[in-house]
Amino acid sequence: MKLPKGLDGVVVDQTKISSTQNAVLTYAGYPIKELQNAPFEEVVFLLWHTRLPSADELKAFRKLLVSKMVLPDETIRLMTRIAKEPQHPMSILRTTVSLLGTTNDVERDDPPRILGKMLTAIAAIIRIRDDQPVMHANSDWGVVENFIYLFSGERPTAERVAMFNTVMVLHADHEFNASTFTARVVASTKADYYSCLTAAVCALKGPLHGGANEKVFKMLETIRQTGQEPTAYVNDQMAKGRKIMGFGHRIYKNGDPRATILREIARQIAHETDNDAYFALQEQIRDYMFEKTHLHPNVDYYTALIYHCFGLDKKTFTMMFAACRTAGWLAHITEQQAEGCLIRPSSEYVGQTNRHYRADKEEM
Ligand SMILES: CC(C)(COP(=O)(O)OP(=O)(O)OC[C@H]1O[C@@H](n2cnc3c(N)ncnc32)[C@H](O)[C@@H]1OP(=O)(O)O)[C@@H](O)C(=O)NCCC(=O)NCCS
Repeated sequence: MKLPKGLDGVVVDQTKISSTQNAVLTYAGYPIKELQNAPFEEVVFLLWHTRLPSADELKAFRKLLVSKMVLPDETIRLMTRIAKEPQHPMSILRTTVSLLGTTNDVERDDPPRILGKMLTAIAAIIRIRDDQPVMHANSDWGVVENFIYLFSGERPTAERVAMFNTVMVLHADHEFNASTFTARVVASTKADYYSCLTAAVCALKGPLHGGANEKVFKMLETIRQTGQEPTAYVNDQMAKGRKIMGFGHRIYKNGDPRATILREIARQIAHETDNDAYFALQEQIRDYMFEKTHLHPNVDYYTALIYHCFGLDKKTFTMMFAACRTAGWLAHITEQQAEGCLIRPSSEYVGQTNRHYRADKEEM
């Protein structure tokens, strides 16, 4: 029997939340291209209810989500202790999400409260690690504007909010990607939201998934610092059997539709923040990678530069991915808990057979 590698192409369950059929990403049937400028709150509503909200519903939903962007003082106090540790921010986030699931008010936590807490916690980790005060959300602003304010300490311009909004929308969901599938496996055992989210964060951390954006920026920095030709860097890495981060995708073999949109944002914000050299380098690598491998950039390739231009440290990039993807994780956990059954696949055993304990022991 020939097994599909890494479940490649295997349909494991049904979902109404999102699809990548025919390499077109849709949320509840709407192509991502049409949603790219929709308010993040509207897209979250869509993912959670599989329909668009009315104008009144959207207003109320935005107000609700922003009102949940707060953490109990005790949680901040405990988080401060953890966030100061020298470990990678994704390790801090993993422990923080687990911690959020143990606080006093956890019984009341539903998806809006959990999303609010996650965004606030991610921003707070950044602030605490930078020895900066934890900020408080403003009830008159939307989720994206508040999120940027919470992690940066500065009110962003409307243009920057629009850019980050698109980044958040494009990352919000992606059907059965590794972290979402992990969350669904845990949800299938009827475990609580925070257990599912902790597991999802663990899966996202790896460089083959969300961890790629940090590695992309490390690559750009290395090339600029060493003065190496990008082509020589790519050749050298591939000769060593290493993958070039930010390229390739399990589903999108002819290009990731999210990367096409993000490329333009990267170009624009790089120009506005005096980072054109990074963008030019990305273009060189992109062209050479296509020439050499026919691989296209994926969602992590350009977000690395966008996050850098937002003043973020590369070690926090994957937390940004987690912040955006929490919306989708919550949708999938809810769907799995409501409609799914226990996920428990089988394996093909390829180890030794017909062994006998006593006989083998005597021979030792
Ligand atoms: C995303 C990824 C895991 C998809 O993997 P996949 O569908 O399992 O495809 P494979 O890893 O089997 O790759 C198929 C071939 O392309 C090559 N390849 C894929 N991505 C590559 C990359 N980024 N750099 C160099 N070669 C790559 C593989 O080495 C493999 O070559 P081979 O057939 O000669 O062994 C893979 O493209 C990758 O590791 N990319 C880099 C990490 C990354 O950017 N992750 C974020 C994803 S959104």
